Amino acid sequence: MPNVVVVGTQWGDEGKGKIVDLLTERAQLVVRYQGGNNAGHTLVVGGEKFIFHLIPSGILHPGTVCLIGNGVVLDPEVFLMEVDRLRNRGIKVGPENLRISERTQVIMPYHRRIDVAREEKKGAGKIGTTGRGIGPCYEDKVARRGIRVADLVDPEILQAKLADVLPEKNFYLEKFLHGKPFELEEILTSYLEMGARLKPLMTNVSVLLQQAVKSGKNILFEGAQGTHLDIDHGTYPFVTSSNPVAGGACTGTGVGPGELHHILGIVKAYTTRVGGGPFPTECLDKIGDHLVECGVEFGSTTGRRRRCGWLDAVVLKDAARLNGLTGLAITKLDVLTTLDPVKICVGYDDGGVRRDTMPGTIKELERCRPVFEELPGWSEDLRGVRRYEDLPANTRQYLKRVEELVGVPIQLVSVGPDREETIVVRNPFE
Ligand code: IMP
Repeated sequence: MPNVVVVGTQWGDEGKGKIVDLLTERAQLVVRYQGGNNAGHTLVVGGEKFIFHLIPSGILHPGTVCLIGNGVVLDPEVFLMEVDRLRNRGIKVGPENLRISERTQVIMPYHRRIDVAREEKKGAGKIGTTGRGIGPCYEDKVARRGIRVADLVDPEILQAKLADVLPEKNFYLEKFLHGKPFELEEILTSYLEMGARLKPLMTNVSVLLQQAVKSGKNILFEGAQGTHLDIDHGTYPFVTSSNPVAGGACTGTGVGPGELHHILGIVKAYTTRVGGGPFPTECLDKIGDHLVECGVEFGSTTGRRRRCGWLDAVVLKDAARLNGLTGLAITKLDVLTTLDPVKICVGYDDGGVRRDTMPGTIKELERCRPVFEELPGWSEDLRGVRRYEDLPANTRQYLKRVEELVGVPIQLVSVGPDREETIVVRNPFE
């Protein structure tokens, strides 16, 4: 009966995939509500490695229904490739366990080309996007000229929409970005073909969710990226183009706020960021190298080395407020083992003025220097620990301080990449 939203509290890559996989055992439905194939995570199940960008990993759990909400931007090529890969490995994928909202926006080939060409043109000032066409697709959604999943099964509508939008895209691509233009017929044919394959999966996700709520099912809402990459609340303009915050689960799927019962914030025990933008606790020294190496901090979508630094409680407190967090899941705690002392940023020093919340502009955030609190480290291997009380005293002291600073209880602690390497203090579905 309870519904749970899983959100990233930092700049993405908090390890949501593992926690979602774990919680899926208690959920009958898993719903993705925003973002696209800029996200990605790898799961190892029974020794087999699976990489997901769009389809919720819940697809690996027999009996779980996976939904893609209207807030997502869907690249049909990538989506269908993911479906084929799963089927080739013997995973059943069909309308009984995978549905897409007919209102979901479609990433078109011109979105991808514009995304890449624009970043190249920007040079030093670039956002560092994943180049998957995410931003340009959301731009068209808001400009009311987007192509939605339902349009892919209506040749007349798709033809008319392309005829309307393509001349403008080609003009921009050729004249401003010095890129190659597109042929309408080519896009039309291939997108109608993909539309035919998507047709059996199309549905009204909002209605499906309402039925699930009425029949007392557990729903897991899965956010991609993280709170500080949110288009409204993140470090704008170094953000993604959607709303990863918990509120996005409502607009991105069609459920009312009253149906979101628990909001679980995923907190990596340190901080990482990919792409450009300010990052107050970034460590450009051997601590940063330790975090990259021990945490294997390379992007799962682009392979880029992630920027790493100490945990930032200002970032987390903002996330607690912006999402209404009811619980925390701490991930990758084992990566801090052997570091001594361990540091937590408890506030910012902005030219002698103390700040406890994220400033509204990049200019101010760039000025801020982290104020650190130091705690004693630990050298014990955490990966075999399964009960909170069995954690070393210094590790518990670190976790207690995080709880105090953020003001939200810790419900899960991950001490290694495997599903079993987790301490469950309280399952939010209970
Ligand atoms: P976009 O979402 O591809 O437009 O990229 C915008 C910004 O969000 C860039 O800094 C990306 O590196 C970042 N970003 C997008 N998706 C992810 C993610 O899943 N994890 C971490 N950063 C991401």
